[in-house]
Amino acid sequence: MTVHAVITGVGSYLPERILTNADLEALVETSDEWIFSRTGISERRLAEPDEATSDLAARAGKATLADAGVDAGDVDLLVVGTSTPDMFFPSTACITQDKLGLSCPAFDVNAACTGFIYALQCGVAAIESGRARCVLVIGADALTRHVDFQDRSTCVLFGDGAGAVLLQAAEEPGVLGIVLGSDGSGADMLKVPAGGSAAPATVERIENREHYLQMAGNDVFKFAVRVIPTVTKQALSASQLEVSDLAWLVPHQANQRILNTVEERLGIEHEKVYSNLERTGNTSAASIPLALDELYTAGRISKGDNIAFVGFGAGLTFGAAVVRWTKNAPNKEA
Ligand code: ACO
Repeated sequence: MTVHAVITGVGSYLPERILTNADLEALVETSDEWIFSRTGISERRLAEPDEATSDLAARAGKATLADAGVDAGDVDLLVVGTSTPDMFFPSTACITQDKLGLSCPAFDVNAACTGFIYALQCGVAAIESGRARCVLVIGADALTRHVDFQDRSTCVLFGDGAGAVLLQAAEEPGVLGIVLGSDGSGADMLKVPAGGSAAPATVERIENREHYLQMAGNDVFKFAVRVIPTVTKQALSASQLEVSDLAWLVPHQANQRILNTVEERLGIEHEKVYSNLERTGNTSAASIPLALDELYTAGRISKGDNIAFVGFGAGLTFGAAVVRWTKNAPNKEA
């Protein structure tokens, strides 16, 4: 019999500290009006100095296991999508595993802002191949740790957070189709140049601020509005569905103008494209499961709904997944 992967738990975590556009006006030459009109962002969350990516991931993972009503001992694989690991090694997944009291294999996937979709694919493949029956998939990032708060073109965009889903083996279909893509020729468009093996940290590189994120914003924008509609349609086609079959599109939350353009190009109603960007900014690999958890906890997803997730990010990477919702009401308060 074919084994399917279904989502049986959802959870997320946002740090408490809020950084508003007004706070940023005090740091760089910018304005709330510029930031909101160009991006749709009003505020974002900042991890505390003693909060690492694994802490965000563990909070989201714990909430997800509680929602699914599954014990830590029953998880047989942990995959963490992150591009802001606690440190180069050990993996953030191993540190998170310990914080959650899991005893299963654990590894990280780095696909930047597409990290959740890539990690989801790993979990789905493990279940469909019979290698695992219960996989915790977390997207977690603390990008504000790598953002240059002297660079107004990037520091206004990002926030910290984590979101997760639990995948379990089932007879009924849950995750219907996933399509992933990469285009390494665009690696220079979005990168943290120094600190890795290509350019190890030196005093000079740090003084030149090369250890911070650098982005060609306009090029990334054009890439995003080109690939998102295409890969979403490919994942729908792999699931034998059309755009009109979707109850929700949950896209990576990077810029409201990107979402508006995608909406037009896909021909999907504005009300079906979920956005929480105004309150979170771009939380990278966390943004899709964070948005999903908000929708789900608010009771806005019904059993049988078709939902598409779509992401894009550094790499360049992109990917989309289509899911048929099989869960009942959430096991938690809105
Ligand atoms: N406040 C005020 N002015 C600013 C700011 C700011 N925060 N940032 C830039 N400007 C200025 C620029 O200096 C420029 O001034 P100039 O015309 O005098 O040179 C002007 O505003 C216009 O700048 P653009 O870069 O052309 O602005 P644009 O409208 O393209 O918006 C933005 C920039 C928001 C970055 C947009 O390009 C974007 O959202 N790109 C996509 C980014 C993205 O999605 N990144 C995440 C990828 S996911 C991952 O893997 C991390």
